[in-house]
Amino acid sequence: MTDKNQIMKQKYPIEAGNFTLAGEASGQIKKVLKQLGVDSNIVRRVTVAAYEAEMNMVIHSVGGNLTLQVTPDRITVIAEDRGPGIPDIDLAMQEGYSTAPEMARELGFGAGMGLPNIKRCADILNVHSKMGEGTLLEAHFDIKAR
Ligand SMILES: Nc1ncnc2c1ncn2[C@@H]1O[C@H](COP(=O)(O)OP(=O)(O)OP(=O)(O)O)[C@@H](O)[C@H]1O
Ligand SMILES: [Mg+2]
Repeated sequence: MTDKNQIMKQKYPIEAGNFTLAGEASGQIKKVLKQLGVDSNIVRRVTVAAYEAEMNMVIHSVGGNLTLQVTPDRITVIAEDRGPGIPDIDLAMQEGYSTAPEMARELGFGAGMGLPNIKRCADILNVHSKMGEGTLLEAHFDIKAR
């Protein structure tokens, strides 16, 4: 994005299968937003969405990037990965739908609640995916004028 009003943009690489580092990027995003003085309710919603998107890349993708963009009007979280893609996005968005492997389930993931949770938290959610190429998730959060 080349918005001249952009305050900041930060990109965090996400490694597939690395449960030790998992959650670091969304933790950083939370910290940055707090430092910027963003309303705590918005910080909470962005952090939840960023965490779920990060975990989905760790568990379901071959790796990608999590990006935070902040403008005076809105915050955007972008999760972009290199595959394998989501065959049926409507199905993936349903509560309880999960293809998480046993290893992830043993760690408490795989309830099929991540994407529905992101949808609930965000003001706008867009998910695009192409099999064999990857998935692009964009969650927008309005910063309401007070
Ligand atoms: N980045 C991704 N790449 C490929 N498939 C994905 C990706 N993100 C989600 N999916 C697919 O969508 C399904 C639903 O995702 P969702 O986050 O709602 O649930 P989950 O990750 O399986 O479980 P939970 O998030 O509750 O731990 C996943 O099980 C997976 O099949
Ligand atoms: Mg998930």
